[in-house]
Amino acid sequence: MCGIIGILGSHEVSPQLVEALKRLEYRGYDSAGVATVDASGQLNRRRAVGKLVNLSDRLVHEPLPGHAGIGHTRWATHGAATEANAHPHRRGPVAVVHNGIIENFRELRDEVISLGLTPESETDTEIVALMTAWHMDQGNSPVEAARATLARLHGAFALAFLFEGEGNLMIAARKGSPLAVGHGKGEMFIGSDAVALSPFTDRITYLEDGDHAIITREGAEIFNAAGAPANREIQQIDVGATQIDKGGYRHFMAKEIAEQPAVLGDALSHYIKDGRIVLPEAINFADVDRLTLVGCGTAYYAACVARYWFESLAGLPCDLDVASEFRYREPPLSPKSWAMFVSQSGETADTLAALHYARDKVAKTVGVVNVGTSAIARDADIALPTLAGIEVGVASSKAFTCQLAVLAVLALKAAHDRGRLTDAEQRAHLEDLRALPGLLNQTLSVSDECRSLASWLSEAQDVLYLGRGPLYPVALEGALKLKELSYIHAEGYASGELKHGPIALIDRNVPVVVVAPRDALFDKTVSNMQEVMARHGQVLLISDAEGIEKGGHGTRASLTMPSGGGAFAAILYAVPMQYLAYHTAVAKGTDVDQPRNLAKSVTVE
Ligand code: AGP
Repeated sequence: MCGIIGILGSHEVSPQLVEALKRLEYRGYDSAGVATVDASGQLNRRRAVGKLVNLSDRLVHEPLPGHAGIGHTRWATHGAATEANAHPHRRGPVAVVHNGIIENFRELRDEVISLGLTPESETDTEIVALMTAWHMDQGNSPVEAARATLARLHGAFALAFLFEGEGNLMIAARKGSPLAVGHGKGEMFIGSDAVALSPFTDRITYLEDGDHAIITREGAEIFNAAGAPANREIQQIDVGATQIDKGGYRHFMAKEIAEQPAVLGDALSHYIKDGRIVLPEAINFADVDRLTLVGCGTAYYAACVARYWFESLAGLPCDLDVASEFRYREPPLSPKSWAMFVSQSGETADTLAALHYARDKVAKTVGVVNVGTSAIARDADIALPTLAGIEVGVASSKAFTCQLAVLAVLALKAAHDRGRLTDAEQRAHLEDLRALPGLLNQTLSVSDECRSLASWLSEAQDVLYLGRGPLYPVALEGALKLKELSYIHAEGYASGELKHGPIALIDRNVPVVVVAPRDALFDKTVSNMQEVMARHGQVLLISDAEGIEKGGHGTRASLTMPSGGGAFAAILYAVPMQYLAYHTAVAKGTDVDQPRNLAKSVTVE
């Protein structure tokens, strides 16, 4: 979602601002803009709808000089993706960029209108610029004016302010949405994340909720929510870990799919050492009476898969919900229960709010997160990194399989703590897990067959995905991937549910993708598949060799998967789901890494 950058530099900052915005592209956006203060103190801005290349073109024809500047990629919330709604918003001497939503903006908008001011855009952000400019008009300094405005804002936001005539001042504020301050030599930076700041500095301070920072080239003074000076640590970041390049692949997503054997291996080696599970001591499921699993999108589907493992292996009763519902349905939570929040970014607004809802009601909150410095990682009692590395493709791939790996380890730990598995049984399951990176590596070879199948899928209007048990959420994930990447309507169903309605959709034009390893439920899934084929449904069966041999007759196509993975075979089946969507998107010519309307970290409700 929106990206913010700010630089008090020693050279022309426009090219640096655009370079940093490029690094934030992966978050998703539909317009972009920059503002600078030039040597004479003049504040100017350039904005453009669409991709950053449009902004760069604009800057070639209308350069923006200045050593101080702010920039923004906008993902539309209030108002369409137009130039008038693009950031920076400027009023008088104030320019503002913003990530998040100002919840009381209608009230504030009425207020500024009653003061005789006229908003020029439909955005909530412009109100921040208007109010700050108004306070300056009343004789307040930029810092006083920004503080007076910040005190009135409700909602979740990260904001950066720049002022005419102030070439050595930026103000940054954060409540909810992430924002970091970068420390250079005689230069200072602000950015939405370390990825944006890493070309400039490896010394970063993460602002905490309610903080604001007064930044000059000499440093940053940080104040907490109560307005008192706050000491925030400067962290040394590993710049290597923020490198983003396609490594020779055509798309980030292709690279990230192919990275899965390696990153899954890293995640498993982190949590399994010498055949034993290594987790923080505080993790013991012996007395936990219930587990609540929460996430959004792909992370929610990872939680859905994990529920099967926690219930069947550990006998631990589970509740499961999408965060946007969980946070508002006032679920009663047992004080002996634990709540687990799964998130790649660790910044998803709904998941974070769900964590805040649960934290004083349950015995322990656990964050299963990819971004170790994120809000969910910080706010959960225990944060467990999924170690997938930076995922740039907006559609999750390696983040999903690494979430599954960590959740699988947790389920095995729970099973052992609760006396459901002996040491030897747990070891056998751990061996199955340790075999997964190798099996995943073999699975990558389905890419070529998925490419061949893509021409068929790309013609379809609707595609159904079917699975049972832990493969049911994998089917849901397959449908989500296809929707996100190729814009083809797709739905996932529990295969036993088909005859209760969705079977009405079946005809010879609807491809039906069936994910079914040869397990205890295989024969039942094959029966459901027969029901589809009896109605001229065109089935793609994805199974192991034994499953294809037993159930492949009459299908339109099949994909042979390696057998293995034991209780965790579902992890392998994520790969054909990813490749089918990826190649279909390539065949259709859609934007694989930044699908329309989507954002990588969803920091608004
Ligand atoms: C996955 O392909 C998605 N783009 C999306 O569903 C994502 O999983 C969801 O927004 C949750 O994000 P998070 O893992 O960062 O919390």
